[in-house]
Amino acid sequence: MARPEPSAVKRVGLVGAGLIGSGWASYFLSQGIDVVATDPHPDGEARVRASVANAWPALTKVGLKPGADQKRLTFIKDIETAIRDVDFIQESATENEDLKTELMARIDRAARPDAIIASSTSGLLPSRFQRTCKHPERVLVGHPFNPVYLLPLVEVVGGEKTTEANKDWAVAFYNGVGKRALRCRKEVPGFVSDRLQEALWREALHLINDGVGTTEEVDAAVRYGPGLRWAFMGSFLTYHLAGGDDGMAHFIEQFGPALDLPWTSLQGPAMSKELTRRLVDGTREQAAGKSVKDMERRRDETLIAIMQAIHTHWDR
Ligand SMILES: NC(=O)c1ccc[n+]([C@@H]2O[C@H](COP(=O)([O-])OP(=O)(O)OC[C@H]3O[C@@H](n4cnc5c(N)ncnc54)[C@H](O)[C@@H]3O)[C@@H](O)[C@H]2O)c1
Repeated sequence: MARPEPSAVKRVGLVGAGLIGSGWASYFLSQGIDVVATDPHPDGEARVRASVANAWPALTKVGLKPGADQKRLTFIKDIETAIRDVDFIQESATENEDLKTELMARIDRAARPDAIIASSTSGLLPSRFQRTCKHPERVLVGHPFNPVYLLPLVEVVGGEKTTEANKDWAVAFYNGVGKRALRCRKEVPGFVSDRLQEALWREALHLINDGVGTTEEVDAAVRYGPGLRWAFMGSFLTYHLAGGDDGMAHFIEQFGPALDLPWTSLQGPAMSKELTRRLVDGTREQAAGKSVKDMERRRDETLIAIMQAIHTHWDR
């Protein structure tokens, strides 16, 4: 059977159905696509069905496509049976290079030889986990963001053996189902977005470790200020506007020298017991007794409102 056009994908296989795999399940179901999920966890099926049910109110709010139905989710424990006849495969198993390398070879053996296989990895290199595949040219990264069923970005990264045509296919497929595929120009660990997040995370850890702020205070420094601008302008456009009428050129003139000041530490601190305690206790206090599931639903409503505001006021 030949590979379908990106817009004709009817059946998607999901290998690994934890947080991210379940998010993909919710999203593809909301697009009216059949989903076959597999996961070795003893509660795998119950967990993915509960996560889809939890995401469904948010997906209903943003708009279900014709045919969207939670009942179109099938769970099959045996990987080979699950992915034997699907048009596209999204792997979202535990982040571990050895595990993914072995798993990719298994998926590659069982899948139709032309089906694209995308990994949700947060930063592992596709060149490394496609090595053991018979058809490595169709193995790539499709890195999503949590919650997968709401955030549009998917970073598409090919390995040394991935063909350009297959990267094109993946970009067209993700965009066709309403995602925003970002085709990464080079294969680098952490890709683009997680490198940026990691830089902020390292610095935030130092601020906690050095007693400069609590987790709540450091979060406040993002959420009431730069975070609001990042949501629709990113770093560069934000600084273009920070340069006044002359934009980026004046910004660099004024703040360029600050790069020589010791404002950031870059290397992360050691994850000591004391630092871990501050992070865990701090975020527990911030959650103020609310469960993660409860916060997920409120996060979803907030994200939808932010995305609608950006669409109405910024993207016009
Ligand atoms: N958590 C995030 O915010 C996030 C964001 C983007 C990408 N990712 C990536 O998504 C992937 C999954 O992360 P997660 O957060 O969903 O983790 P998770 O722990 O919630 O889920 C991982 C799932 O993989 C399953 N698994 C383990 N071995 C397997 C195997 N051999 N075959 C099939 N399934 C197997 C586990 O049973 C588990 O259900 C990772 O590669 C991670 O880097 C995570």
